[in-house]
Amino acid sequence: MKPTIGTCYYPEHWDEKIWRDDAARMRDAGIDWVRIGEFAWSRIEPKEGQLDWGWLDRAVNILSDANLKIIMGTPTATPPNWVIEKYPDMIAMDQNGQPRKFGSRRHYCFSHQGYKQQCANIVTLMAERYGKHPAVQAWQTDNEYGCHETTQSFGPSARDEFRNWLAQKYQSPDALNRAWGNIFWSMEYDDFNQIDVPNLTVTEPNPSHVMDFRRFSSDQVVAFNKLQADILRRYTDMPLVHNYMGKVTGFDHFDIGADLDIASWDSYPLGFLEMIIKANEEHKAEYYQQGDPDFQAFHHDLYRNVGNGRLWVMEQQPGPVNWAHFNPAPLNGMVRLWSLEAIAHGAESVNYFRWRQAPFAQEQMHAGLLRPDHRDAQGLIEAKQVKDDIEAFGDVTQIQAPVALIFDYPSQWASEVQPQGASFDYFQLLFNCYKSLRSMGVDVDIISGNGPKLEGYKLVLLPGLFTLDDDLKHSLNTFDGLVLAGPRFNSKTKDFQIPQNLAPDLDQLDITVSRVETLRSNVDRKLENGGKAINWVEEIETSEDVIEKTADGAPILIRKNNLLYLAAWLDDEALKLTFKRILSELDIETLELPTGVRLKRTRDHTFFFNYSKNEQVLDDIVLSAAGATWIEH
Ligand code: GAL
Repeated sequence: MKPTIGTCYYPEHWDEKIWRDDAARMRDAGIDWVRIGEFAWSRIEPKEGQLDWGWLDRAVNILSDANLKIIMGTPTATPPNWVIEKYPDMIAMDQNGQPRKFGSRRHYCFSHQGYKQQCANIVTLMAERYGKHPAVQAWQTDNEYGCHETTQSFGPSARDEFRNWLAQKYQSPDALNRAWGNIFWSMEYDDFNQIDVPNLTVTEPNPSHVMDFRRFSSDQVVAFNKLQADILRRYTDMPLVHNYMGKVTGFDHFDIGADLDIASWDSYPLGFLEMIIKANEEHKAEYYQQGDPDFQAFHHDLYRNVGNGRLWVMEQQPGPVNWAHFNPAPLNGMVRLWSLEAIAHGAESVNYFRWRQAPFAQEQMHAGLLRPDHRDAQGLIEAKQVKDDIEAFGDVTQIQAPVALIFDYPSQWASEVQPQGASFDYFQLLFNCYKSLRSMGVDVDIISGNGPKLEGYKLVLLPGLFTLDDDLKHSLNTFDGLVLAGPRFNSKTKDFQIPQNLAPDLDQLDITVSRVETLRSNVDRKLENGGKAINWVEEIETSEDVIEKTADGAPILIRKNNLLYLAAWLDDEALKLTFKRILSELDIETLELPTGVRLKRTRDHTFFFNYSKNEQVLDDIVLSAAGATWIEH
């Protein structure tokens, strides 16, 4: 498929007189897609039942006349004031029990029945009106579920729905008491209506209680999305998409993905580096204007599978953003690099946020493709280059990577519920593995552990998997490649208890994790063959082959046939050494990539990206700073 580009446009922010000119300029820049509508509820329905379609009809027609394809967003992330007046208790409550006030966005609780009804109503009206419009060729549900810490709400609507959810799941309070171990500290219930949301307890609440609340909260997002998806399907045959975010893991994206056609996400590499990525100051300074070399690719490789093979970038950073502690300008070339990288990892479309920088309200310091004075910004210059690049390389087709990394959202929740050591973060454990492999030029697919298709992979990685269920166990038993499990693998039951058979409890592998310890950041264990164990170390009883030990002889990497167990969190050096060994046995090519250089293979091309500030040379390929290029096979 030949990739496309697009932009996010807010006609309601601008004088109608300039819409036609905007559309023409978009077309001239090579833009194919325009996303509109996702925050426009107060203009579509200024008062309950009072609908003003005129302006939106005209905007749709103007964009359509310019041959632009429209992604119509449902406006449910920004309920206007009258909705709050109608349902004051639809407001979400934070962990401290404080209401999240009107005056920005995402102030709703996913469990509020009245609000869901109101959403169903506006989505139906929009779908009736535009579902068959020839220019409306995709629909986005809501906007960035979970953004601004909004997956969980701790108010009465969530509490009531949580009780229903628990009653469904456990059928009797006794069953729940057993599953949670409520005999501990006399926490037993004899009625589901006694159970509250797990906040504001004196010390930590029961982890089983919190884990169920995390599962429930995820299910609420899934149900909220499905409500919209089901309505849209009745009126349109066009693909449905949601825009996910970077390292927002509060709900199970694979569950949402199952109800949609495409997974898209919003990629803000410089904001992420500043606000989300755990890295030392040196790394942050080195990549200040480029972003982390692996963070974007990690999400492309994850969300491509959330979308069952279909990926878009719905919002691409076009210049400085406004929301990080510090907001640098991307090095010239980076907007092009990020876009081509997304395409190489499977993005069918890269859409820039936003068309023109807004001179008013919260995001007035956030760049657009145009400056607030309507002139072209650097982002537009690079978007045009991307369009030229696409013309040059044409279709891009993904191929299966040799390595699969299993990403499991409940394992992330479990690591937050009970980290055991301050540095244990499931996402980080997986990201480190990904980074290590990518820095050696290895392609990685990030896949779900739910009924995964492992055929064709040479290596499957399962770090930190909270619970191994029977389906996955079966897939692993029938898989003929190499499996690397651990650390912290299969260490809890689904109810969040320690299983009778201690971890890792893998068939045919005689290993027992008899004790675990977590290490503070200035403490480590040296390994015999180089590098260190850090953060998390397991004590192992085993009769199997030990192929790596600590300097004082404790087993760290254990092997039987095609099964490897890793009993510690490894530092970068040890991780790289371990992977190198495994990859060479599997005949997976590894490269010594220059600093900041990454590559991605597709069926007909290999793409190269230079995230560093300096020119880099790989064989006969010269990459300027912030440069990207490709070769055809
Ligand atoms: C995204 C959001 C957009 C805009 C953008 C600014 O998280 O979807 O509406 O706020 O960030 O970077």
